Amino acid sequence: MNTGKVDVLLGLQWGDEGKGKVVDVLTPKYDVVARFQGGPNAGHTLEFEGQKYVLRSIPSGIFQGGKVNIIGNGVVLAPDLFMQEAKDLEKSGHDLKSRLHISKKAHLIMPTHRVLDAAIEASKGKNKVGTTGKGIGPTYTDKVSRTGLRVGDILENFQEKYEAHKALHLKQIASLGYTDFDITEVEKTWMEGIEYLKQFPIVDSEVEINKVLRSGKNILCEGAQGTMLDVDFGSYPFVTSSNTICAGACIGLGIGPNRIGNVYGIMKAYCTRVGAGPFPTELFDETGAKIRDLGHEYGAVTGRERRCGWCDLVQLKYSVMVNGVTELIMMKSDVLDGFDTIKACVAYKLKDGSVTTDFPYEIDDVEPVYKEFKGWKTDMTQFTSEDQFPQEFKDYIAFLEDFLETRIGIISIGPDREQTIVRK
Ligand code: GDP
Ligand code: IMO
Ligand code: MG
Repeated sequence: MNTGKVDVLLGLQWGDEGKGKVVDVLTPKYDVVARFQGGPNAGHTLEFEGQKYVLRSIPSGIFQGGKVNIIGNGVVLAPDLFMQEAKDLEKSGHDLKSRLHISKKAHLIMPTHRVLDAAIEASKGKNKVGTTGKGIGPTYTDKVSRTGLRVGDILENFQEKYEAHKALHLKQIASLGYTDFDITEVEKTWMEGIEYLKQFPIVDSEVEINKVLRSGKNILCEGAQGTMLDVDFGSYPFVTSSNTICAGACIGLGIGPNRIGNVYGIMKAYCTRVGAGPFPTELFDETGAKIRDLGHEYGAVTGRERRCGWCDLVQLKYSVMVNGVTELIMMKSDVLDGFDTIKACVAYKLKDGSVTTDFPYEIDDVEPVYKEFKGWKTDMTQFTSEDQFPQEFKDYIAFLEDFLETRIGIISIGPDREQTIVRK
């Protein structure tokens, strides 16, 4: 049978690797682009023709040539935030209504889920996760507890279902002793969002996707967050509440594992993290501040300062393993253009003094062992071919490829769509 293939693109670190930019760059090679997990906790930035866009729930394939984009069953959707995001795009001249399809099985983030998110964070005190406050955890909790509301539910007797769910949430919020909230206004906009959602094709996306494949067309799956935020394999409990890894694409879209082709692993030439939790290579000195400054490392949605550090190859090797990465894509190498020395963590020294390259159960107390590289000290942002790369940069990427046993197929040298070097 002539079937199309599914490629998966996902983050290998703690999110914000530059997934949005690469999805946009790769979209012309695909017929459909689909998001499979996460929700408005994501902020995917794209830049082209002097314009900058930040997408949260809408897939990053929406700008290239009228392709169908799908919000899959594994995504959690906030109708009010979705309406705001979609209307902004429509205002800037991008028609969405016919080619943005939404799964009936995607779960709805209710206003009370966001209050619960805040209440649970407040109850954790100094152990809080530092969530984006978008209700992600409570919505996935309801999904797994079999008490969630789905997009398909809006088509019939919705108000009744909504009130029942809300009443349950209000009890949970009260039991946490949380009183500092008023959802009156938000609820109004949220209900407008529900009506707005009905203008989009609400579909059985797993059926649609498999029909697309059967007709020989190709699909690109766009991950959100990153492998270290995966609920199973990330730095638990400082993670998000979905499976961000490649297998998440099968579950979040209804695709058989044998359909997966390429797995593109996106990594920064250094590393960042937003929110709380361990980060072995974090830099607290002026080098960290310099990376933050040059890389504009502030949250795309929340504006929060991102924690910055050197590239962690022990962590990346683990991510390559759990995702079955077939090709690496390295972002933001331009940010390191002016550095005299670049470092990469090649092993962890554990509390008992032993040294390992295996990613351990806990990374709170590991001490990174670094290898130093001579900086390339060259502005690469206008390069158009890998032949222009300085030798020091070639040496750096050759080392990464060797250590990670995976080819780096694309190197990004700036935020614009054009600033992308596809290697031979
Ligand atoms: P995502 O969540 O993985 O899509 O990444 P974000 O959009 O949250 O963060 C990546 C940031 O880096 C955005 O501001 C991008 O515009 C920017 N960016 C992407 N690639 C590059 C690059 O190669 N160089 C530089 N300097 N910026 C980049
Ligand atoms: P993109 O797709 C970076 C982080 C939060 C917090 C933890 C849990 O843009 O890469 P949540 O709201 O999901 O319950 O928060 O996960 N986080 C992200 N960090 N990029 C993201 O998405 C993130 N989405 C969630 O900061 O530490
Ligand atoms: Mg982001």
